[in-house]
Amino acid sequence: MKISVLTIFPEFFESFLKLPVIKRGMDKGVCDIEIVDIKNFAHGSFRHIDDSPFGGGPGMVMRCQPIFDALNSVCIENSHKILLSPKGKTYSQSKAREFALTDHIVLVCGHYEGVDARVEEWMDEQLSIGDYVLTGGEIAAQVVVDSVVRLLQGVLRENSTTEESHENGLLEYPQYTQPREFNGLSVPEVLLSGHKAKIDDWRLTQSLLLTREFRPDMFERYELNKREKKLLEAADNDKKSND
Ligand code: ADE
Repeated sequence: MKISVLTIFPEFFESFLKLPVIKRGMDKGVCDIEIVDIKNFAHGSFRHIDDSPFGGGPGMVMRCQPIFDALNSVCIENSHKILLSPKGKTYSQSKAREFALTDHIVLVCGHYEGVDARVEEWMDEQLSIGDYVLTGGEIAAQVVVDSVVRLLQGVLRENSTTEESHENGLLEYPQYTQPREFNGLSVPEVLLSGHKAKIDDWRLTQSLLLTREFRPDMFERYELNKREKKLLEAADNDKKSND
């Protein structure tokens, strides 16, 4: 797949593109990431990419012409154009999965007080990475690129993304490695037992308990099957008898 990022701060992506997962994706040829400097599309001797808002108000607004020309330089027929903006729909793992199946996504990073509203008309969607305001869309674009590239075939080990938090509607279970005991904290006995079915049950129970505690919104949306109901009931009964 191809990812084009339109930004006024291309230097922001220099070290990002060298991160192992991103670099592996590019080296293996599963993704082609191009960083496009919107400033190169600004005309006139001042090449200004921003201006004051019509109607007055604080701050500056990104002009639409340089963005329009930058978009035209990268877009092909089926390019999926995304504006990163705090006004967008909240980005999610399911969006990442959807983008990982898309041939070309174009990420436009907004700045200043925002972009000229006409830019929104050319977009397929607007996305926000959370309910807070960043100085610009660059960090949000990196979040999208990272979460998509790691899903592409051949970038990570096979199946290593399928049990992660958010993949199946639950948070991931806790993981441990050596040593078995550290600073008075030990690894749960069941994980050392070698008993595959018991380990699977323990992990699923932990996922359910963690999701219920930390993400009640996700837990509410999740439909428990018979096995999960039983495991949760058993964990709740265990807790009651230990209290
Ligand atoms: N630009 C500024 N804030 C943002 C956010 N929360 N998500 C995406 N882009 C942004």
